[in-house]
Amino acid sequence: MLLKSPIVVTGGAGFIGSNFVLQWLAEQQTNVTVLDNLTYAGNLENLTSVEKDKRYHFVLGDIVDGGSMRQLLDEQRPGAVVHFAAESHVDRSILGPAEFIRTNIEGTFQLLEAVRGYWSELPTPQQRAFRFLHVSTDEVYGSLTPTALAFTEETPYAPNSPYSASKAASDHLVRAYYHTYGLPVLTTNCSNNYGPHQFPEKLIPLVVLNALKGLPIPVYGDGQNVRDWLFVTDHCDGIRTVLERGVPGQTYNIGGRQEMSNLDLVQQICIVLDELKPTEKPYASLITFVKDRPGHDRRYAMNTSKIERELGWQPRETFAGGLRKTIQWYLDNPEWVEHVTSGSYREWIDLQYEPSSLTGAAKR
Ligand code: NAD
Ligand code: TYD
Repeated sequence: MLLKSPIVVTGGAGFIGSNFVLQWLAEQQTNVTVLDNLTYAGNLENLTSVEKDKRYHFVLGDIVDGGSMRQLLDEQRPGAVVHFAAESHVDRSILGPAEFIRTNIEGTFQLLEAVRGYWSELPTPQQRAFRFLHVSTDEVYGSLTPTALAFTEETPYAPNSPYSASKAASDHLVRAYYHTYGLPVLTTNCSNNYGPHQFPEKLIPLVVLNALKGLPIPVYGDGQNVRDWLFVTDHCDGIRTVLERGVPGQTYNIGGRQEMSNLDLVQQICIVLDELKPTEKPYASLITFVKDRPGHDRRYAMNTSKIERELGWQPRETFAGGLRKTIQWYLDNPEWVEHVTSGSYREWIDLQYEPSSLTGAAKR
């Protein structure tokens, strides 16, 4: 029933948000309004394929601007808000945490206030059916030792980076709006995503694009930090499942049960590239160990039994299949890459890595 209402998607021009909007329009019938302020990570090219779809609307706006958020809700009358908008890159949060506090904490607070005002004036049946779904991360749980059990929804929060601390704060606010005001909220905590449209400051697209240019592939520390990878469409599918069947006030872990070390992952990317775009030397020869990220979490792993058992969700894509599709997408979309790797992307790379990354050394 809920999935028959129009929805508002914050951050819908970013990596996961745009994949979610495309999936929604392909599989659901209802209108989607994307609200995004188009930071360096927001890109309307991610949504070009639906720009003529009458069910899709784009609104340029900042979640920190609570008055405009309330106006948007009053105009669009959504049955749900799916909240992706955030500053999302750990390394940027280390170099400049202020924007993370502003968007992830203040922005989520302002959005919650706007949603609470709108929701409290809805007629009772619509109030009961309404959902606010907050998209969060496994990073709020902190770091695991190599043999520790995977994170469950009961694992205490222990964020270690300004990014994860700001996401943890936003999760707590969302929780409080359920307990204090009865706002029907849902929170999903997901592991590392990969797939088309990911901004190439994140590991997988950065490795693919550096390799194609013959630049060093920077691996932080000893390369033994472990992440749990999930193909982005499986995450989007999980969010739709939680929206439809999740119990208000509950949180749901989403993950791929695909743990691997960064070095292992980078080597796999190199092997796929050797096959799809062979060069004289194997791409793995470009792998370069660089200075570690401060406070670098050693391992993330997600126990996803709750969403599997209670809501019947499971990832569909294998890691090998998802990785190949992702690499192929970057090979097939040089224009998208060209557009996002000019301007502010260049500035970031110069700030984060030694000159043009050619020495392979991370700054800091
Ligand atoms: P992204 O950085 O690619 O996209 C973020 C989007 O939010 C961009 O379109 C940006 O323009 C928009 N935005 C930023 N600040 C805004 C503001 N103040 N007002 C309106 N829009 C704003 O991020 P992503 O990787 O797509 O992540 C989306 C969400 O999923 C985030 O909340 C992130 O914490 C969460 N998440 C990401 C991952 C991952 O692996 N990428 C994993 C788990 C959870
Ligand atoms: P990232 O994609 O930034 O995601 P997150 O920090 O949110 O997990 O990084 C994934 C892993 O890859 C993380 O352990 C840091 C590591 N990494 C590198 O080794 N080299 C790089 O250049 C980058 C960007 C990340």
